[in-house]
Amino acid sequence: MSANSGADPRPQPLGPSRSSSSPYRPWRHRLAQLTVGATLCLIFAGGLVTSTGSALAVPDWPLSYGMLMPPMVGGIFYEHGHRMLASGVGFLTLVLAVWTARDEPRRGVRHLAWAGLAAVVAQGVLGGLTVLYLLPTPVSVAHACLAQTFFCITIALAYAMSREWLVAPEPVADGTGVRNAALAATAIVWLQLLIGAAMRHMGAGLAIPDFPLAFGRVIPRFESAAIGVHFAHRLGALVVLGFVGRLWITVRRSGESLFRRPANVALGLTLLQIALGATTVLTTKAVTPTTFHVATGAAVLGTCWFTTLRAYRHTRPTPLPGKAAAAVADAVSAA
Ligand code: HEM
Ligand code: HEM
Repeated sequence: MSANSGADPRPQPLGPSRSSSSPYRPWRHRLAQLTVGATLCLIFAGGLVTSTGSALAVPDWPLSYGMLMPPMVGGIFYEHGHRMLASGVGFLTLVLAVWTARDEPRRGVRHLAWAGLAAVVAQGVLGGLTVLYLLPTPVSVAHACLAQTFFCITIALAYAMSREWLVAPEPVADGTGVRNAALAATAIVWLQLLIGAAMRHMGAGLAIPDFPLAFGRVIPRFESAAIGVHFAHRLGALVVLGFVGRLWITVRRSGESLFRRPANVALGLTLLQIALGATTVLTTKAVTPTTFHVATGAAVLGTCWFTTLRAYRHTRPTPLPGKAAAAVADAVSAA
């Protein structure tokens, strides 16, 4: 396919075509997409467990009250429901890994599928340890962060199996720096999730009870670690907005339609996420906005990550201009 060919309304590839070693497998790709969607639902369901305070509604693991299927009443509905959904996602990931191992010529993709399986098993074990050790903060935070990381693995797998990846044309030079802007935004959002998880699991979600001010001031008095972490999360939101905004502007400057939609979605979701964060505080952590805040956090991360993957697939780093290249060559030969 050539750049800008035909009347196809979808965003067009950027450069001349290159051939792929791997045939398109539509059903494996669909399974990978299903795993992405199911994981986002599972993150929402996990968020519900914490938001409703149901984490210890089932005190044992791997069984629930010694049963495979306890009565789904009260908090058990959320906790056991989350376990059932997690088993479903684990099963999808297992099928995807085995199918990919048998059918996929690219070694990197086979390894990524096994990494996904390892991550989901580790995630299940962390979930179990969280219950057995009565919610130790580091384990709960690790469980929250690995959930988001596993989500990114599923996105990478689905994208690597997509037709877009397989028929991607030769990459063009990344003139405006979309690659770096997208990667930086992804990293910053991940750090913000980490701070959010630390705040949530150390019980600091309402350590600053007002919004947008903090105890009626722009900068609060740091009288406790909880206030420090909470304020860091609020500052983090501004940093995230700055990085996602920079990605949006960089994409606009590049004029590449392929990146425009994910950059628009990333910016829109970030603004929604900030509104949900404010609502979480102003409603003193009502279950619905708080849980949507967790899931939308995953969606912001996933969108920035997808933009990064797309940028790395369709562009290559811009060659250094003459003088800079000579300076690098000098530095390398002097070393
Ligand atoms: C693919 C597997 C799994 C994923 C992606 C996942 C994801 C999540 C997420 C996103 C949360 C919310 C964290 C937060 O709001 O800060 C959560 C909470 C929780 N999950 Fe999972 N989970 C998985 C498997 C499991 C399993 C197998 C268990 C078994 C017991 C489990 C037990 C829990 C518990 C108890 C909580 C509440 C933790 C707390 O409030 O401290 N999870 N999970
Ligand atoms: C783009 C910016 C933001 C992102 C990506 C983000 C992300 C997150 C995530 C993912 C969590 C839960 C982590 C987990 O346990 O899994 C969280 C928790 C939280 N966030 Fe944000 N957040 C953002 C902005 C804000 C803003 C502006 C506020 C307003 C004060 C806020 C308030 C909160 C609160 C209060 C919690 C803890 C809720 C609880 O204790 O249950 N967030 N954030």
